[in-house]
Amino acid sequence: MTGGAGFIGSNLLLYLVPKYPGYLFINVDCLTYAGNLANLKPIEDYPNYTFEKINICNLLAMQDCFARYDVNSVIHLAAESHVDRSITGPAEFIQTNVIGTFTLLELARQRAAQTGDFRFHHVSTDEVYGSLSASGFFTESSPYRPNSPYSASKASSDHLVRTYHNTYGLDVVTTNCSNNYGPYQFPEKLIPLMIRNATAGLPLPVYGDGKHVRDWLYVEDHCRALDLVFHSGSSGQTYNIGGHNEIENVKIVRKICRIMDEMLGGEPRERLITFVTDRPGHDRRYAIDASHIQEELGWKPSFTFEEGLRRTVKWYLDNEDWMENCITGQYLQYYEKMYSNR
Ligand SMILES: NC(=O)c1ccc[n+]([C@@H]2O[C@H](COP(=O)([O-])OP(=O)(O)OC[C@H]3O[C@@H](n4cnc5c(N)ncnc54)[C@H](O)[C@@H]3O)[C@@H](O)[C@H]2O)c1
Repeated sequence: MTGGAGFIGSNLLLYLVPKYPGYLFINVDCLTYAGNLANLKPIEDYPNYTFEKINICNLLAMQDCFARYDVNSVIHLAAESHVDRSITGPAEFIQTNVIGTFTLLELARQRAAQTGDFRFHHVSTDEVYGSLSASGFFTESSPYRPNSPYSASKASSDHLVRTYHNTYGLDVVTTNCSNNYGPYQFPEKLIPLMIRNATAGLPLPVYGDGKHVRDWLYVEDHCRALDLVFHSGSSGQTYNIGGHNEIENVKIVRKICRIMDEMLGGEPRERLITFVTDRPGHDRRYAIDASHIQEELGWKPSFTFEEGLRRTVKWYLDNEDWMENCITGQYLQYYEKMYSNR
């Protein structure tokens, strides 16, 4: 697995490693600001888990890793994943998301030619489809219309993956998922950022009018879907994954405030909501039609948004040390740059 020390990767490894003792999981991660090995403490001593600090763009190091472990499949999550960062500094997004994916595909192609057996599972996002108006859903055949350097880099990687199936016959599956939330998410993303700021009594910065709509999925439900698609998805297929849970950003922030008020008491936290200048090219609405994965593989989300959000808030409140350890000087500088002049 690549990117196993990030948010979704950590949740996925914590789910898969105990479940599949007969597999060897190699977590390949170069530990950017978003990677945190402390997330993986519960499984770090499992005999079927190991960590390799490698940048996926490093062809020779990755080639050596594939050969040493006789790798026969990849679940590819390593990425630069934050839209705002892609606007201020797109180069790393092209490097990791496009060149990194290309590097892995080339190695997968070589291995498949040698062994005849290699599955490549590419983990992607619904942001590749662009923005929807008030109605309609993204399906697997929606046109690609990315609007940020992040979504454009993910769209490029999706195209490369499809190409390796159609041109070279590589066994690939791609999943395009909506916004995830849950434990271990870096506090630059909406939900943990709001929980942290509300805990500290800081302003809760909401972009524009706050009416941008996203579909939200609890990360554990995404992990179950990835497990299913990796094991049972049809080669060459794309699966959209979503929670059928569309909600405006500002409503999420209000819900978080309400849950925190209930859990912690004190002055109502909604008063901390502050509307700030919108993100350039901010997509208005995303909504996913997840009927393909439901019909073919029997997957559907198991957590309601209310349940998932309560669990998430509780996790961050119980793990304040984790949150504070994430927040390095570098992150604070980034935060200042993003929000101080809006
Ligand atoms: N978070 C979401 O809501 C969401 C939704 C849909 C799809 N996705 C996709 O899922 C994947 C994982 O997302 P996430 O939220 O866990 O991201 P994340 O930013 O939390 O984690 C990314 C991980 O990749 C590692 N990484 C980055 N560049 C690397 C490189 N060059 N070599 C090796 N490792 C590198 C980082 O160290 C980090 O551990 C991404 O591909 C993302 O596009 C995320």
